[in-house]
Amino acid sequence: MGTERREGAQAGPASQRPPGGPTFTLAEVAKRNTPSEAWLVLHGRVYDVTPFLHEHPGGEEVLLEQAGRDATESFEDVGHSVDAREMLDQYLIGEVHPSDCKPEGPKVPGKPASNEDSVWTMWLIPILGVLILGFMYRYYMDGRSS
Ligand code: HEM
Repeated sequence: MGTERREGAQAGPASQRPPGGPTFTLAEVAKRNTPSEAWLVLHGRVYDVTPFLHEHPGGEEVLLEQAGRDATESFEDVGHSVDAREMLDQYLIGEVHPSDCKPEGPKVPGKPASNEDSVWTMWLIPILGVLILGFMYRYYMDGRSS
């Protein structure tokens, strides 16, 4: 696709930030997992934390562990302060490419197929149960009256 933006976006991280911003695929982020280049994803945004590695109050190690991947869960688990969240902006370089944003799922738009399935099972099982009990009761009553 011609709309994909790749490596070119690296030229000026903070200075060039057009609305919408550059986007990076998760594969591109995954390559940046070293002390000389450390990127991570937080809430769908891509951060270059290389200059922050040795300044991180939580230590360089934890950042390097998360580098190259989506660190949202770990970041939130720590319960970072408002100050920490405000610092994020300095390291923002772009967003995760839309093709990588949504979790893998059925590629049929507007049709929650699996949900419908579970509704059916939710109703069918009790209805079948009631029917079976009804039949058993009828046979029992027939047996008694004959
Ligand atoms: C650009 C991203 C990040 C920034 C700007 C950042 C910033 C900070 C700051 C300012 C603190 C001091 C405490 C606070 O103010 O909340 C901190 C602590 C900490 N951070 Fe991060 N952090 C980032 C990413 C991460 C990630 C991905 C992890 C992964 C586990 C992490 C783990 C920790 C830990 C363990 C502490 C120490 C908490 C404590 O001592 O109670 N941080 N971080």
